[in-house]
Amino acid sequence: MRKVGITGVGEYLPPRVLTNADLEKMVDTSDEWITTRTGIKERRIACANEATSDLALKAAKEALADARLNPEELDLIIVATITPDMQFPSVASIVQNALRAKTAVAFDVSAACAGFIYALSIAQQFISLGTYRNALVIGAEKLSSVTDWQDRNTCVLFGDGAGACVLKEVKTGGIISTYLGCDGSNMELLNLPAGGSRLPASQVTVEARQHFLKMQGNELFKIAVRTMTEAAEKVLKQAGMDFSDVDMIIPHQANARIIMAVGKRLGLSGDKIFLNIEKYGNMSSASTATALVEAVKEGRVKKGDIVLLDSFGAGLVWGACVIEW
Ligand code: COA
Repeated sequence: MRKVGITGVGEYLPPRVLTNADLEKMVDTSDEWITTRTGIKERRIACANEATSDLALKAAKEALADARLNPEELDLIIVATITPDMQFPSVASIVQNALRAKTAVAFDVSAACAGFIYALSIAQQFISLGTYRNALVIGAEKLSSVTDWQDRNTCVLFGDGAGACVLKEVKTGGIISTYLGCDGSNMELLNLPAGGSRLPASQVTVEARQHFLKMQGNELFKIAVRTMTEAAEKVLKQAGMDFSDVDMIIPHQANARIIMAVGKRLGLSGDKIFLNIEKYGNMSSASTATALVEAVKEGRVKKGDIVLLDSFGAGLVWGACVIEW
């Protein structure tokens, strides 16, 4: 089996910033509530004419340039998203065409906030088996398009963005272990009810606001802490490591209190926990992706470091990954 590593990273965050003060004018909330309950100060919102593939494409180009890989050489493109441009074709197909990556196989993965780790794991299998030489993995979301801007329980939490990475065979380091999980029995805790085959779009579904995501945050909170802790423990055990080996945990950014609770349970100190939720809120699959990219760009992750990715989201799904950078 070939070793597979990340050889280039990129991100794109739309320039428009929506602050907590802006939200105070839209719903009955306060900067104080949002900051203390979630850690979020602001989030990015894509333009009306910008779709998820536009965000994904910009992140992809930066990652390809960083990896010094021409799009024509790409073998595989996987986009993790729950906010595709349209039901079909996939965002990955749209990105493949825009990049003119003519020989790349391309598909989307729907695993919500764990989507980026699911996609990384799939790409790793293809490359380690020798099926493909390289892959572009993107986490991209335009969550503002499925957010109910009248619902204070959810609208303060989410934002738009994209993170990308290029995977290739490496001689040293790379992905050491991945661990994925799913529990479909709790799907009602976080979902988007209408617009699929169960409830196709109709006047009734639009009037009932069923095209916006629905979340039971309180219940999810407890499951998120427990599940992310267990996923981290399992993936490290698979890697033959323990928490003292970890230089940086890069968790999904749903809530700073969830992240700190997981860090505490794992015995990781604050300087080993990467947080960017205050700038971007929860961007589902793009959260772990952009957090990894920013940790690398800021020099918080250096060559030889052991990085632990850890995500949890709608499905319910979860995933963790240990990488030697
Ligand atoms: N501004 C002000 N008050 C708000 C509010 C807002 N934006 N949103 C909710 N509230 C109120 C509620 O109405 C409730 O009021 P009540 O006590 O009078 O009924 C109170 O604040 C507490 O609500 P609750 O939902 O218990 O708050 P919480 O501390 O659990 O925080 C979340 C809410 C959503 C921030 C938190 O539960 C969370 O982050 N959940 C996990 C999200 C997650 O992991 N998702 C999966 C991955 S995407």
